[in-house]
Amino acid sequence: MSHVFNFSAGPAVLPREVLIEAAADMLDWHGSGMSVMEMSHRGPEFMSIMAAAQKDLRELMAVPDNYQILFLQGGGLAENAIVPMNLLGRKAQPATIDFIHTGSWTGKSIKEAGKYAQVNVAASSKAGSFDHVPARAGWKLSADPAYVHICSNETIDGVEFGAAPDIAADTNGAPLVADVSSHILSRVIKVDDYGVLFAGAQKNIGPAGLTIVIVRDDLLGHALPICPSAFDWKIVAENGSMYNTPPTYGIYIAGLVFQWLKRQGGVAAMEQRNIAKATLLYDYLDSSKLYFNRVAKADRSRMNVPFFLRDETLNEAFLAGAKQRHLLQLKGHKSVGGMRASIYNAMPIEGVQALISWMQEFESAHR
Ligand SMILES: Cc1ncc(COP(=O)(O)O)c(C=O)c1O
Repeated sequence: MSHVFNFSAGPAVLPREVLIEAAADMLDWHGSGMSVMEMSHRGPEFMSIMAAAQKDLRELMAVPDNYQILFLQGGGLAENAIVPMNLLGRKAQPATIDFIHTGSWTGKSIKEAGKYAQVNVAASSKAGSFDHVPARAGWKLSADPAYVHICSNETIDGVEFGAAPDIAADTNGAPLVADVSSHILSRVIKVDDYGVLFAGAQKNIGPAGLTIVIVRDDLLGHALPICPSAFDWKIVAENGSMYNTPPTYGIYIAGLVFQWLKRQGGVAAMEQRNIAKATLLYDYLDSSKLYFNRVAKADRSRMNVPFFLRDETLNEAFLAGAKQRHLLQLKGHKSVGGMRASIYNAMPIEGVQALISWMQEFESAHR
């Protein structure tokens, strides 16, 4: 297959330029005679890759000086345990964590956090099958939560917070923790609205295996004694994300993606492209008689677009025709069914146009 458009939710499409660069570097990184995979993480070559990746991410997201950027292993789900283990020590035990339950990923976070703390589901859209973000006015935050946890883009349900709650007004002063795995770097995020941001890399950043945590300095140093040292953010920060061996190749690819993003004009420019792509697809879905998306318009994800065929018996034919046209990995998550088009930063608008062309053709044939 020469050229495809890959709509996978993650691991997901990476910029072609980055893959070409990585292929050229594979056997010999910058004349070092070594592949990045073969380098000591403490050697000058990899240290320079790490420093550049840290610097570029800080610049791209305008991360303030009083925040640490950590490169960890573990993935997004591991953070569901690592976050409470790092933050609960700020409170007398048993402490309470507030959650806004907007989909599958916050569901998993709630379950995991229950091992370490009391959990208060301050608001939930479960009754509406996760088709919106509950309005702030209805959130029932507890009196003194250790923190408030949101997933600001629910990858499976296709629900995205349009704007972060204002931290002072909206969380009663408790740190806001956001799982940004599936929309980091796709839109401008005001980092100082949050205490902690975390993301698995395998959507907008690079290969699976790298996890990024951005944490405010005052939230370091409160880990529970049971927290593994390799996941204690203070220890990781003090060691420049080199307390244990970091996922070196993932960090290298992430660094190339950060440089690519800078060449694209940065996050604000990328956000405009993502708005254009998402608008094109949602407008088509809303005009169609065959397909539909069921998320409230204001809360629709720009990155993950679940959609359904009104006649589900056509699903397999739709996917087979898509594959013939080199439109890959459109099958929806098994828990919700239907289709899902993930249109991350590296998906060009031509991919969305090609998808809509196929959807139109299929719709015309099944009137
Ligand atoms: C929003 C979100 N959080 C967490 C995860 C889990 O990530 P991992 O499989 O790396 O643990 C995912 C994976 O798709 C996700 O989309």
